[in-house]
Amino acid sequence: MKVAVVGATGMVGEVMLKVLEERNFPVTELLLVASERSVGKKITFKGEEITVIGLADAVAAKPQIAIFSAGGDTSLEWAPKFAEAGTTVVDNSSAWRMDPTKKLIVPEINAGELTKDDKIIANPNCSTIQMVLALSKLHEAYKMKRIVVSTYQSVSGTGVKAVQQLENEIAGVEGEMAYPYPIGRNALPHCDVFMENGYTKEEMKLAKEPQKIFGDSSFAVTATAVRIPTSGGHSESVNVQFENDFDLAEVRQLISETPGVVLQDNTATNTYPMPILAHDKDEVFVGRLRRDESQPNTLNMWIVADNLRKGAATNTIQIAEYLVENNLV
Ligand SMILES: NC(=O)c1ccc[n+]([C@@H]2O[C@H](COP(=O)([O-])OP(=O)(O)OC[C@H]3O[C@@H](n4cnc5c(N)ncnc54)[C@H](OP(=O)(O)O)[C@@H]3O)[C@@H](O)[C@H]2O)c1
Repeated sequence: MKVAVVGATGMVGEVMLKVLEERNFPVTELLLVASERSVGKKITFKGEEITVIGLADAVAAKPQIAIFSAGGDTSLEWAPKFAEAGTTVVDNSSAWRMDPTKKLIVPEINAGELTKDDKIIANPNCSTIQMVLALSKLHEAYKMKRIVVSTYQSVSGTGVKAVQQLENEIAGVEGEMAYPYPIGRNALPHCDVFMENGYTKEEMKLAKEPQKIFGDSSFAVTATAVRIPTSGGHSESVNVQFENDFDLAEVRQLISETPGVVLQDNTATNTYPMPILAHDKDEVFVGRLRRDESQPNTLNMWIVADNLRKGAATNTIQIAEYLVENNLV
């Protein structure tokens, strides 16, 4: 399997390489691709040094799969060129997610939708992935009506520049700003750009992507996305109202049975999910389960995952694994 990693020098790209190696993805030739700035750089994969190449050379090499995490503009311009050359693209940016001709995949939920004809496949937003996976069995059992979600997102979600900003602030040195304000000792109710309706693009991704993933537009989502000074791992406070009533013990059971989800919920031992516990893990962690006492059929929960893993690299590579295992590339 000839595989290209586009954006190999970035935060997600680096984790992609780690996950490909860990999961022993069947790579026979690996093409590492980045911007012209990085062409010629060397990156080590499985003990072998590989030279970074540009996008045109990567298309010409006709890989079977190209994993993209190089921003929306690169993806809009280059994913179709790879697809035309016969490559199947799995894209991490927001470029194709809401395109009705493209599938939006969380493998545990809807990989079954994929066919050989899907040449550009979208990976959902990191905050969406952890939320929908944690809710998937509960939706099946009780049918979601409305979700109110507030996120507490780490700086690694913005990329290398933002991680550097936080490190500079901690070290007390001046440097380039990824955010309009300091992020250390702060919380910014501002993830991605503001839109005409007053929401940020990140909030609208959380509001719109879940319905597409579940193939069900009968529930609604409203979101507030906040950037906090954690280096990695996104947390979410989720309030979900169901059509049908639930039993809390059964909710715990269903969450423990959800593939890729781990229940961490015991207030007696101060057990609950936290970014430091989710770091470098592929699972989504769920805790603080409690009935919303202000409204019927409503549950409060706390969901944490490593945004660079299940939120990006792991989910993308799981999609690629599904394509390979089912002879779809
Ligand atoms: N961080 C997250 O938690 C997360 C989660 C899900 C999805 N994503 C998405 O993944 C993508 C990358 O995010 P990131 O956090 O890894 O960002 P990043 O650390 O800034 O890395 C960006 C990568 O894209 C490459 N790139 C930029 N412009 C390019 C161009 N014109 N042509 C080719 N390559 C180009 C960069 O190459 P150079 O090094 O040569 O500049 C670098 O490899 C974004 O679309 C982001 O929305 C991120």
